[in-house]
Amino acid sequence: MKILLTGGLGFIGSHTAVDLMERGHDVVIADNLSNSKIEVLDKIKQITGKEAKFYQIDICDLDALDKLFEENKDIFGVIHFAGYKAVGESVAKPLMYYENNLISTFNLLKVMQKYNCKNIVFSSSATVYSPKNVMPLTEDADLGASNPYGRTKLFNEHILRDFQFVNPDYDVVLLRYFNPIGAHESGLLGEDPNGIPNNLMPYICKVAVGELDHLNIFGNDYKTKDGTGVRDYIHVVDLARAHSLSIEKIIREGRIGFKVYNLGTGTGYSVLDIVNAFNRVNGDLVKYEIAARRPGDIDECYASPKLAEEELGFKAEKTLDEMCKSSYQYQKNNKK
Ligand code: NAD
Ligand code: UFG
Repeated sequence: MKILLTGGLGFIGSHTAVDLMERGHDVVIADNLSNSKIEVLDKIKQITGKEAKFYQIDICDLDALDKLFEENKDIFGVIHFAGYKAVGESVAKPLMYYENNLISTFNLLKVMQKYNCKNIVFSSSATVYSPKNVMPLTEDADLGASNPYGRTKLFNEHILRDFQFVNPDYDVVLLRYFNPIGAHESGLLGEDPNGIPNNLMPYICKVAVGELDHLNIFGNDYKTKDGTGVRDYIHVVDLARAHSLSIEKIIREGRIGFKVYNLGTGTGYSVLDIVNAFNRVNGDLVKYEIAARRPGDIDECYASPKLAEEELGFKAEKTLDEMCKSSYQYQKNNKK
């Protein structure tokens, strides 16, 4: 089937493009390169031996999106990755986040209706859950995002739910990612944020290659086994497969309606677990210091992955060691 990936040259989108193409689907990518590089397109080709059709467009540009659909009337479904994703930046530039992350979805839904494309998979996040929930998080846990980025995800979820309610012939799948890390085994695709990374694994990788001196661990007095924050890290290659499985569930079952799935492993690892695993598999490369807590962080966050397993047949397979190894491999290949 022909699948449109908005933001398909980004970290998760590029891995998903590879997975879909390896399963025999045709992939169309729309990306404005605001947080990705055109070379990724060639890397996807190197891995799969196939070409994805590429449109360098902004999803907020309704005319450009319309033209894409006009030229690809047989798009079966859309996986909507495009969006801004940095929590801190969203606090500083809320309008930029609301505009990009919401207008893109409005435009997509309008154009999808016009061209009778009835299936959409949306990149949501564990950040939509209220911090007051007990772990593990099930899909029916209380919602409540605490920053503009998180609210764009939550608003998108509400918009898509309301839209599907009055358009029951549409299939809408919300995928709530926990903490995606790791890289493709080829070493060609991975995460390469500009500037100093905010997230743990990209930061660790830059320390490992000597671009940064040491890791600051944000707090060691959380209510966790070793005092450092606990999260549910999932390998991006596993995560990518869950998108293909969502699309294939729609293809197989014809009509699935509105679905929400957590994508995590169900296992929480602390910051120290991650640093220790990274140093064990890659050599003793990462020094750390204990620093103050980062505002807004919570003790722990991990998924109940049961529903995705039962309904999508999805189970994360890759280990923490594989996540650490592949992340470092990619960073070494992309050393500045
Ligand atoms: P990414 O920044 O690597 O990829 C997003 C891609 O979208 C980039 O290639 C960017 O150039 C493109 N883009 C952004 N706005 C666009 C627009 N208006 N038009 C066209 N292209 C546009 O991010 P990612 O880590 O691959 O995340 C993909 C999605 O998953 C995002 O929606 C993100 O919010 C969500 N998500 C990510 C994480 C994570 O930790 N990486 C966690 C939960 C949810
Ligand atoms: N951490 C450090 N030092 C760092 C960076 C992070 O100690 O330099 C710690 C954090 O305090 C936290 C853990 O590492 O305990 C993970 O932090 P990340 O920033 O990697 O990830 P978060 O869980 O804070 O948030 C990420 C994304 C959000 C998304 C969320 C759930 O940034 O956008 O996962 O999907 F919503």
